Amino acid sequence: MGSGGEWYLSDLANGIERSRILSIATQVKKMKAEGKLVTAFTFGDFSPEQFGVPQSFTEELTAAVKQNQTNYPPAAGLPELRESLSNWMIHKYGLNVGSEGIIVGSGARPVLFASFKLFLEPGEGLAHGVPAWNNHYYVHLNSAIDIAIQGDSESRFLPTADGIRARISEIRVLILNSPLNPTGTCFTANELGEICDVVLEENEKRRKVGKKPVMLVYDQVYSTMTAKGIEHVHPVQVRPDMFEFTITLDAISKSLTATGLRLGWMALPPKLAGPVIALIGHMGSWPARPVQQAAAVTYSDPIKLESYFEDLDSRISARMEILFKNFSNMKDAGFPVDFIPPQGGIYLSTRFNLFSALGVNTNEEIRLWLLNEAGIAVIPFQAFGLEEESGWFRISIGAVSVEEVSEAMIRLENALKIIH
Ligand SMILES: Cc1ncc(COP(=O)(O)O)c(C=O)c1O
Repeated sequence: MGSGGEWYLSDLANGIERSRILSIATQVKKMKAEGKLVTAFTFGDFSPEQFGVPQSFTEELTAAVKQNQTNYPPAAGLPELRESLSNWMIHKYGLNVGSEGIIVGSGARPVLFASFKLFLEPGEGLAHGVPAWNNHYYVHLNSAIDIAIQGDSESRFLPTADGIRARISEIRVLILNSPLNPTGTCFTANELGEICDVVLEENEKRRKVGKKPVMLVYDQVYSTMTAKGIEHVHPVQVRPDMFEFTITLDAISKSLTATGLRLGWMALPPKLAGPVIALIGHMGSWPARPVQQAAAVTYSDPIKLESYFEDLDSRISARMEILFKNFSNMKDAGFPVDFIPPQGGIYLSTRFNLFSALGVNTNEEIRLWLLNEAGIAVIPFQAFGLEEESGWFRISIGAVSVEEVSEAMIRLENALKIIH
């Protein structure tokens, strides 16, 4: 027995890992509180100062509270919200699950958790790309077999059809995320289509022998955040036959930069909806009624919503452009840095290949050097399951101003000059 509460707890509880991202974020907060100059490129969150929620959303929310909308909402979500979201999914992605196929939860997490519970038996294969956000925790929570499909800089760190094909017979649930956290990269229609073909071929084989199909959980929480010239693609747009095998996840946490207001949703074939509604009900993970009310109104006006997303994209790209320009210049000047051009979400993949310049062997040593010498806080790809010590890190712009980004780049270049 250990010194804590292990003896009292289940194996599942004892096996739960603490988030590595949160440990780094705590370290950064402490440094800032001590008055140190640090630019926090660490948070996957949006700071309300930089990225507030739309004012009309807050007004609807306040009005709903004033109207005493304080009782239980229906377990699947308010009917008007399910209707608005269903229409939005048709308008934006050509995905028609009807309002019966939309189930809301308090953020993307509960619907993500429910998606896995819907299909996975203990010991079945949960496949996910690497690097990626949080999947290894869900593997543990479902006692699943971990099927990690590793990407590399050539695939923009996205899993490929070939990588998935090599493990397809073991997979019961495949989760894909685009735009991808932590890399800020997106599937093209061609790449996603090829992956869908692998799933469809396998499912056709399984149908003939009466084996349960591969289900695709498509996490598109950053779908409305794309760089200029990049189109987010949905599996059903590229392969309509994927409809019956696809569970789509989305959330206002990212779309409306409302991480703390807690509303996400799942869009799935209506015939699968019943058990999810019961599961969300037992978990009690409904978004608050006033939040649902405000989201119902916001998502009922696609034109206004599109213009909000356009404005948000331009605020994201103002920050990304500074990063892009500075990293390009530093790379051209021969500094050992690299990056993958931003495509979507709020993330940039950056490489600090400082192993020989600093005489170190690990990403963690590079991270600490960046933190202490350049005042830049970044997250190594190890926090997203990529164990190799290759110098790749995630930069997030969710909590930084345009000025902070510019100043951080000057500090970085100055620090690099000293060791180069
Ligand atoms: C890819 C991805 N999916 C899901 C989530 C969870 O979103 P929520 O805060 O709505 O639970 C996050 C949060 O960072 C994410 O990055």
